[in-house]
Amino acid sequence: MTRHTFTPPDMNAILGGRRLRRNRKADWSRRLVRETLLTVNDLIWPIFLIEGTNVRQDVASMPGVQRLSVDQAVVEAEKAAALGIPAIALFPFTEPSLRDPTGSESLNPNNLVCQACRAIKAAVPEIGLITDVALDPYTSHGHDGVMEGDRIVNDASVALLVQQALRQAEAGADVIAPSDMMDGRVAAIREVLDESGFLDVQIMAYSAKYASAFYGPFRDAIGTSKTLIGDKRTYQMDFGNTDEALREVELDIQEGADMIMVKPGMPYLDVVQRVKETFAMPTFAYQVSGEYAMLQAAARNGWIDGERAFIESLAAFKRAGADGVLTYFAPLVAPLLPR
Ligand code: PBG
Repeated sequence: MTRHTFTPPDMNAILGGRRLRRNRKADWSRRLVRETLLTVNDLIWPIFLIEGTNVRQDVASMPGVQRLSVDQAVVEAEKAAALGIPAIALFPFTEPSLRDPTGSESLNPNNLVCQACRAIKAAVPEIGLITDVALDPYTSHGHDGVMEGDRIVNDASVALLVQQALRQAEAGADVIAPSDMMDGRVAAIREVLDESGFLDVQIMAYSAKYASAFYGPFRDAIGTSKTLIGDKRTYQMDFGNTDEALREVELDIQEGADMIMVKPGMPYLDVVQRVKETFAMPTFAYQVSGEYAMLQAAARNGWIDGERAFIESLAAFKRAGADGVLTYFAPLVAPLLPR
């Protein structure tokens, strides 16, 4: 048998001196050339509310996440402010007995969300308060609008959503965030807010919100997973589309949105990037409940290094161009991030 003598390649000649690894040689250098940086200022923390006092109830499908009574939500809001988290977003678990076909509890100025707004504003005035506009936590059928037969009717739904938004602004919400995906709701909400003197209340529009399997644990958290009739595909977007996302965002900007959102997050980073590049608007992404559950499940099984994976997943949003992320990991990662 012949023995082949092996001459190693002359790598320096091949590379012509071009070695991208040089900049990675030490921590100081990696920090110096880093292009994007996730900080505490990029985080929005979604919080689930429930009736009662001193209640903290685990959400089974979201390990580490709890439903909180208003007094406990105040405690967490204080914690968030101390950590430097700029804003929190509120979502209610409505008592089943208070749910009806038109979601009338959404218009109760003393509903859970309004109570929490007043309590948090009084105790932690420096934190940004974002409230969700949609009927699903309040309807017996779990849809974001009202039903006629098996249809979710747009215009009648918007008429209710604007009143819901007004109640939230009156209770002290800083940012109204419609997640319902009805057509024209941003303009209608802007009009009623302005007429009522809430000129400075911002609108963060869930502009490109997809009909997604990743919302499962959220529906568990607000108690709609068993009650939802059918699915939300006649108003939430089809996951095959991105041009349509641009049209949704464009309309919401024209209608007066101050900030726009893409949702879910990780499976839709391409949409985040296109939206940011096209409109240069304050752009947010929602790392939704299913994404949280997935990462937590792997971390808790020891299959991935949780802390590192959570931060890496959030950094991806910044790289894609997002200005911030709604994430259930907010209180967990905030102490690990620069301010
Ligand atoms: C509904 C709403 C949903 C979420 C926020 N607002 C779910 C849905 O559309 O059914 C999902 C958030 C999450 O999954 O974390 N208005």
